[in-house]
Amino acid sequence: MSSGQEKPLVGKPPGNQLSPTCPGHGLAGVSESSSPQAQSWHLTTKMQSSLQPLCLSLEKLHRVKDSMLEAMDRGLSRRTHAQATVRMLPTFIRSTPDGTERGEFLVLELGDIDLRVLLVELSGDTRQTVTVKDRRFPVSDAIAQGPGEKLFAFMATCLCEFLDGLRLPQRAFQLGFSFPFSCRQTRLDQSYLFSWAKRFKCPGVEGRDVVELLQNAINKQDRYCIKVIAVVNDTTGTMMGCEASAEPCEVGLIVDAGTNSCFMEEARCVEVVEENLGRMGVVTEWGSFGDDGTLNDMLSPYDRLVDETSLNPGKQRFEKMISGLYLGEIVRHILAELATQGGLFSGRTTPALLTKGSVQIQDILEITDEQVGVARAQCVLWRLGLEASDQDCFSMQQVCSAVYIRAASLCAAGLAAILSHMRRNRELTRLKTSVAVDGAMFRDHAKFGQTLQQLVKKLAPECDITLVQAEDGSGKGTAMVTAVASRLAAQRFQVNQTLALLKLSPDALGEVQALLRREMELGLKKETQTTSSVRMLPTYICATPDGSERGDFLALDLGGTNFRVLLVQVGAREQGGVRIVSELYSIPPQVAQGPGSQLFDHIVECIADFQTKQGMMGQTLPLGFTFSFPCQQTSLDQGILLSWTKGFNASGCVGQDVVKLLREAVKRKNHFALDVVAIVNDTVGTMMSCGYDDPSCEVGLIVGTGTNACYMEELRNVGTLAGGEGRMCVNMEWGAFGDNGCLDAFFTPFDRQVDEASLNPGRQRFEKLISGMYLGEIVRYILLELTAKGLLFRGRPSPKLQTRDIFQTKFLSSIESDGLALRQVCAILEQLGLHVTCEDSVLVREVCQVVARRAAQLCGAGVAAVAEKIRENRGLEQLSVTVGVDGTLYKLHPHFAQEVQGTVQRLAPRCSITFLQSEDGSGKGAALIAAVACRVAHHQRA
Ligand code: BG6
Ligand code: GLC
Repeated sequence: MSSGQEKPLVGKPPGNQLSPTCPGHGLAGVSESSSPQAQSWHLTTKMQSSLQPLCLSLEKLHRVKDSMLEAMDRGLSRRTHAQATVRMLPTFIRSTPDGTERGEFLVLELGDIDLRVLLVELSGDTRQTVTVKDRRFPVSDAIAQGPGEKLFAFMATCLCEFLDGLRLPQRAFQLGFSFPFSCRQTRLDQSYLFSWAKRFKCPGVEGRDVVELLQNAINKQDRYCIKVIAVVNDTTGTMMGCEASAEPCEVGLIVDAGTNSCFMEEARCVEVVEENLGRMGVVTEWGSFGDDGTLNDMLSPYDRLVDETSLNPGKQRFEKMISGLYLGEIVRHILAELATQGGLFSGRTTPALLTKGSVQIQDILEITDEQVGVARAQCVLWRLGLEASDQDCFSMQQVCSAVYIRAASLCAAGLAAILSHMRRNRELTRLKTSVAVDGAMFRDHAKFGQTLQQLVKKLAPECDITLVQAEDGSGKGTAMVTAVASRLAAQRFQVNQTLALLKLSPDALGEVQALLRREMELGLKKETQTTSSVRMLPTYICATPDGSERGDFLALDLGGTNFRVLLVQVGAREQGGVRIVSELYSIPPQVAQGPGSQLFDHIVECIADFQTKQGMMGQTLPLGFTFSFPCQQTSLDQGILLSWTKGFNASGCVGQDVVKLLREAVKRKNHFALDVVAIVNDTVGTMMSCGYDDPSCEVGLIVGTGTNACYMEELRNVGTLAGGEGRMCVNMEWGAFGDNGCLDAFFTPFDRQVDEASLNPGRQRFEKLISGMYLGEIVRYILLELTAKGLLFRGRPSPKLQTRDIFQTKFLSSIESDGLALRQVCAILEQLGLHVTCEDSVLVREVCQVVARRAAQLCGAGVAAVAEKIRENRGLEQLSVTVGVDGTLYKLHPHFAQEVQGTVQRLAPRCSITFLQSEDGSGKGAALIAAVACRVAHHQRA
C-alpha cells in the first residue's frame, strides 16, 4: 500500500474503496455526503493532523493481523504459553452444539452490573426451541468488591430464590456458569481465576477454582441439589449460543466494555492440553495483545494518555484501542488537544472536557449515527459546557467516527488472524464459518459489522464469514455447553462401559502369558499334546544360518498379503551376500477358497511366468517353499496341512502333503520338475532371514494377516520327537491359542461376532484378537454397537458399516498416525464411504486405538511367554535374544511395535529382547534353509 493512502483525505471517498480508518473515508460513520451542509464543511488542517495518528492503512492492518497470528502461536505453544500476551486459554469445550441438545439447565451469568439466573429448556428436536425463564439480581459494589465468600454466597442465594419463585417439582439441576474473567481452565468444570477485571475485585478468589467456590456455596444452602458441570467465558457462551444456519458457528467475538474472542481450534495445536484429536474451544484473551510492545508503532498519543490514566497501565493495550470502556476517553483526549491548539471550540476547554469519563461509548455510538449524529454531538458538547458551532459538531462527529472505525478495523484484523489461523490448521483452501458477535459496539451500530465484514474480506480473502448477532447474551450458550457436557458425560459413560471389555489390566496380561506358557508345555509333550491349543510343531530346522550358505535358489512365499515368487542368490558376504529378484502375484479369494487343485495350478502358472520373465525356463533350482499355514512335518521337505487359516479354505488339501500337491500340479501343467528341498512356515523363514544378519535371532514373529511365532526349543523338550541333543525350531501356531476354551474369559461379544462370521468359527481364537485380518472387523462390530446405542452417527444406522472387511489394516494404521489432523481422519473415513462428524471420527479413532492396543499387548504377552521359556530352558538369570519380525500390522501401524515391546519388557523383565524387522520377507529365509539343506545333503553324499 502506498504511503499516499495513509494521508487523510478530504472530500467524497473514491467509490466504495476501503482501506484506511482515516476521517473522510467511506468507512467512517459519516461521510461528507451525509447531510446537505456536507459540501461546506471541511476538515481543518489541525483536525487532519490530530486524526492522522489514528489512520490505519490496509498495510498496517495486515501487519496487525500478522503480529496477532504470531502472538496466537506463542499462546498455543507449550514452551511460550506462560509468557504469551495472547494467552489462548483452553476451554475444554470439544464440540459446538449439533441441535440434539435437550433438557432443562440452570445458568448463572455474572455480568458487570447484575447476576442473571436462567432456567433454559432445550427441546432437542429438529427446530431446537429454547425456552428461557430468567431473573436479574443487581450486584452491589459491596458484593462486587467484598470478600469472595460473600460473592459466591450471594450467587447461591439468588439461585435458590429464583428456583423458589418457579415452584418446580424437581429439586435436582445441572448448572452452567458464565464467568467473564480471564481464567486458567483445566477441565470443563474447573477454572482458576487469573485476575479480576472491570468492576470486580473480591479478595480471596484469584488463583482459586471458581467452580469449587460456587459448588461449595450452593451445597451450604442445602436446599436444592445443583451440580455445576460447566464454566464458560462469555465469549464461548456467545459462540455456543449462536443459531447458525448454513455454517457451524466456530468463532465468538465480544466488543463491549471489554473485548475478547474465541474459536474452535484443532486440539493438537493446543499444546498445553494433552489431546491431539478433535477440536477445542480456545479463548484468545486478545485484549492484552500488544502488552509486549508489538503495537507500539500503532499507538497514537491519545492511546498513551488513555493507558497512563487507566487502572492498569501497560496492560490490555489492544482492548484499550477497541472496547467501549476506552473509546470515550480517546475521543475526549483528541477534543481536548484540538481545543487547546485552537482547532475547536474557539480554543476553549471546560473542566468537564478535561474530566476522565465525561465522554461515554454510548455518546460515540449516537454521534456516529448518520441521521441524528450531528445533533447528538451538539447535546454532548453542551453537556460538557461547550458552546459548539456547526463546524465543531461536524468535527466531533469525524473524531468519533475515526475512533470508532479504527476500533472496528483493529477488530477485523484480529478476526482475520483467527480465521486465517483456523484455515491454515484445518488445511482448507477456503474456510466458511459463522461468527457470533455480542456487545453494544456491534449491536447498536450497523457500521461496526459492515466494517468487520468488508475488512475481513480484504485481510483474509480466503475466508467467508457470516456475522450473527448473539441473542440472550451468553446465557443460552452456557446452557448449550452444559447440555453438551451432560450429553457427553452420559455418552462417555456408555462408551467407557463398552470399551472397558477390551482393556486388559497388567494382571490379565500376566494371566494370558501364564496360560500360553502352560499350553506350550502341554503342546510339547507327547501325552498331553492333543489337549493343548498350541501345536508346537517341529520344523526340522536345527540351526540358524552361519554365513557359509551359497548358491541360487527359487523361493515361494504363500499365505501373507501377497504371493511371491523369488530368485534368491546367496553369495559370500563380501560379494554382497544375498541378492533377490521377486515378482508379486495375487491369489483371488475364489482361488484361495476354491478346489485345491485350482490353487496349486495357479501357483505353478505363477512360477512359470516368473521363470519366463527371468529367462530361467528349463533350469531346476532347489526350491524353498514358505507356506504360512500349520503343517505337520516329518522331514524338512514334507508338510501335511493340518488346517487352513486366514482367508484360505481350498478344498482337498487338509491332511495332504503340500509338497506333493505342488508336484502334482507341476505334472498336470506339464511344467518341468521342481526340486522342493524345504517347506517352511513364514515365522521360521523370518527368523532365518533375520538370523542371517544377527546370529542371536532365535525367535520368529509374524503379525500381519495372521499371527504366529516360532523359536529355538531344546530338542530334549520336544516330546513329540525321539529327543536328542541340541535345538530345533518349533512352529508354535499360536494363532490357535484359546481354541480349547482356555481364553474364553477374555473374549468380548465383538470377538465372538468376528469368530462366528469367519471362515473358521471356533478356531484361531488368539489370532482373531490380534492379527490384521480381524482387527478391522472387531472395530466394525464395536462401531455398530455404538451406533445402535446412539453414540455414533447420531444413532442412525450407516449402511456402509454393514460391509464386511471395510477396515483393512492400512486404514487402521493411517487413522492412528500421529499428528493427523481431524480433517484427515474424516477424509480416511469418507474414503471408506462413512459420513462422519468430527465427534464421530474422534470416537472411531478411539475404538481403533483400543482394539489395536489390546492386540499389541496380547502379542507382547505371547512373546514374553516365549522369551521366559527360552531363558528357563537355558537356566539363565538374564536372557538376551533377538526376535525377527514381519507382517504389515507390526510394520505399518504407528504404535503397535512400541506397545508390543513395552508389554514384553513389563512381563519378562529378565529378558532383554531386540526386535529386528525383516526387510526381505521370509522368502530369503526359505532360500537360506534350502541352502543349508543342500549343503548337508552334499556332505552326506560325499
Ligand atoms: C511377508 C513375509 O513379508 O510377511 C511372508 O514374506 C509373511 O512370508 C508376511 O507371511 C506376513 O505379513 P502379511 O501382513 O503379509 O500377512
Ligand atoms: C496363521 C498361520 C500360521 C502363520 C500365521 C502368520 O496363523 O496358521 O502358519 O505363521 O498365520 O502368517
